[in-house]
Amino acid sequence: MKGIILAGGAGTRLHPNTIAVSKQLLPVYDKPMIYYPVSVLMLAGIREILIISTVQDLPNFKRLLGTGRQFGVEFSYTAQPEPDGIAQAFILGEDFIGGDNAALILGDNIFYGQGFSAMLKRAAQNPAAIFAYQVKDPQRFGVVEFAPLSKFPSGISVPPGDIALKVKSIEEKPAKPKSDYAVTGLYFYDNRVVEYAKSLKPSKRGELEITDLNNFYLKEGRLNVELLGRGFAWLDTGTPESLLQASQYVQTIEENQGIKIACLEEIAYRLGFLTKNEILKNIENYKNNDYYDYVRRILK
Ligand code: G1P
Repeated sequence: MKGIILAGGAGTRLHPNTIAVSKQLLPVYDKPMIYYPVSVLMLAGIREILIISTVQDLPNFKRLLGTGRQFGVEFSYTAQPEPDGIAQAFILGEDFIGGDNAALILGDNIFYGQGFSAMLKRAAQNPAAIFAYQVKDPQRFGVVEFAPLSKFPSGISVPPGDIALKVKSIEEKPAKPKSDYAVTGLYFYDNRVVEYAKSLKPSKRGELEITDLNNFYLKEGRLNVELLGRGFAWLDTGTPESLLQASQYVQTIEENQGIKIACLEEIAYRLGFLTKNEILKNIENYKNNDYYDYVRRILK
């Protein structure tokens, strides 16, 4: 499976922060925002990752992430000349995807919670899988409408303890949301996604909508929706307030537990992408620094 991170957009709600710097390069506490989606793809076992961003921002992503060798992965880069919608990622990524299945994650989405790795691996087994999360303001998102069922229907995985539900509809930014469950910015599809994406027509807001893509799979009865339960964090980073809150969330967890969220060297080590010595060599020039001292500590 290949992975794509969509890190484009003008980030206008964060101006002037994002006039000279891409939103996805801004810090979320102790690391750049894009580290978080990279960590999600790595935890799904994905090692070939395409970064899509604007023409002017791509050089900075390359400077930060390079070849990916330091994390035991391989990064490729492609420009999105115009922000024509999330689903465009599969058209821009056609050559990169080749004959493989593809996962897409939005570069500003932060996921954190227990059991996530297992969920990701499960999602990667399905023809199409998305994640739903309860939010206060569903009209800002793609919204999943559920039809309650008495027992687990096939094709739907639900975390233990949650009620099994069947998806009835998915609507993009509905004025009257049919539920409080937003579709998060993480999507797994089989290889047909490229052809489906090419067949999409721009929506009223002029974008190739990921929701339309999800509806293709939903109509076929092949869309798997996984609920992220209440113990889970899906954080927004789109406004100054939410960006600060995300930083504070990460700081709180990291300081309480003495662990780091989305430390890519740690993930590379734990998943066996790189050996201890390879990582130690890569970071030998970063001294007296909290992030790299942590990496050295966990390797010991
Ligand atoms: C996009 C999708 C929406 C999804 C959201 C998740 O919204 O269109 O379905 O719920 O990402 O972050 P947009 O970023 O275009 O407002």
